[in-house]
Amino acid sequence: MPITWANLGVDLHLDQSGRRLRAGLEHALRDAIQSGQLHPGARLPSSRALALDLGIARNTVAEAYGQLVAEGWLAARQGSGTRVSDRPAASPVAPSRDLPDPTLVRYDLRPGRPDLAMFPRAAWLAAARRALTAAPYDALGYGDPRGRPELRSALAEYLSRVRGVRVTADRIVVCTGVVQALGLLFQVQRAGGRQRLAMEAYGLPDHRQVAVANGLRVRTLPVDAAGADVDGLSGVDTVLLTPAHQFPLGVPLSPDRRRRVVEWAVEGDRLIVEDDYDGEFRYDRQAVGAIQALAPEHVVYAGTASKALAPGLRLAWLALPSHLIEPMTEAKRLADGHSGTLDQLTLAELIVSGAYDRHVRRCRLAYQRRRDRLVAALGDRAPRARVTGIAAGLHALVELPDGRREQEVVAAAAGRRLAVEGLDEYRAAEQRHRPALVIGYATPPEHAFAAAVAQLCTVLEG
Ligand SMILES: Cc1ncc(COP(=O)(O)O)c(C=O)c1O
Repeated sequence: MPITWANLGVDLHLDQSGRRLRAGLEHALRDAIQSGQLHPGARLPSSRALALDLGIARNTVAEAYGQLVAEGWLAARQGSGTRVSDRPAASPVAPSRDLPDPTLVRYDLRPGRPDLAMFPRAAWLAAARRALTAAPYDALGYGDPRGRPELRSALAEYLSRVRGVRVTADRIVVCTGVVQALGLLFQVQRAGGRQRLAMEAYGLPDHRQVAVANGLRVRTLPVDAAGADVDGLSGVDTVLLTPAHQFPLGVPLSPDRRRRVVEWAVEGDRLIVEDDYDGEFRYDRQAVGAIQALAPEHVVYAGTASKALAPGLRLAWLALPSHLIEPMTEAKRLADGHSGTLDQLTLAELIVSGAYDRHVRRCRLAYQRRRDRLVAALGDRAPRARVTGIAAGLHALVELPDGRREQEVVAAAAGRRLAVEGLDEYRAAEQRHRPALVIGYATPPEHAFAAAVAQLCTVLEG
């Protein structure tokens, strides 16, 4: 309901339901500042006066002011009260291309995130308690740059059981996300004179930037319905692939290409980097096993907790060929000593206790249902769009109806406060796929999923 803040003639649209009041007040004030209703330097009433004016608790106002001061929208100075900051219009944290102003997003179908509401909080807390209770003192000191032995053993068993990876604990290095793991690996490759890297023509821009920042010369491989075209590897030392579920096109690398790329690596003593970012989420058929099992001395296998648990953990792991153990351990040591121990111990406990498997099974089922609902809804309400890449993972490729352009569809979605991403955001080469959206169907919380998909269908048919 709109409440007019009489003194300044500003309408604050406040949702007055309980705990959302503070968030609503922050939101309304941000909006008023952004739209110029509240101009730079404008003095705000004291928290007591505004609370009286709005008929709400003073603490709620004080907390909202505090948050907006922390974000840079407001400035509080002793003696002169709270004012709108001098330069608030340029948002205090400039939103990047990938992160639209969160206050403008109501429905989020961007890829790259699991449903964070599914994080197994109770199981994690219980595992953390058990792990810390049992941890020796030295677990709290500086440790092996490769990570805690408990986690590396648990991962070695888990990866061999679930993904067929051939690895022992001493070959695993725990990193702060795949992004760090790749940075360290590229650094080591370059130091060893192996500067020529091939990557898929569609992929995560961050990974490409990490390669370039580490001085590698990057070549791109076209991607088609059989995955990356591995014919273009002559003169290359290292290839980075997403074989189980190409990101973002969603196709698996064909058996023939898997065999050929392994031959290429073994015969020329070269390296494959297998980014198995969502390998645990396969729905329709038996999981495609890791390529690493075919040539453990020529494949670096990379896995992450970002999909099955949460990206905020920043936990990922590499299974290394023997010649890379020593240089990668050294690179990790110089980068940050080692990754934080307590989360590693907790993850180890989660895996060993079986809670991690149970959680993954629960997520797999939930995401499979969402995928099926997405496909059904598009079939009914946006039949001219074509969905592909759905056998695995947390995202699908939705090819646009003829004549629609990605940018136009993304803008139309933004107008409905639906965040989606066009495929072109992930293109690194001349190759052009037909216009499509990369839909992250795991991203919204369950209660918002149906509405997000309904908005998507409307936009696609619009
Ligand atoms: C292709 C790809 N690789 C790896 C990752 C995981 O990266 P990180 O472990 O740095 O979160 C993601 C996550 O979105 C991804 O899309």
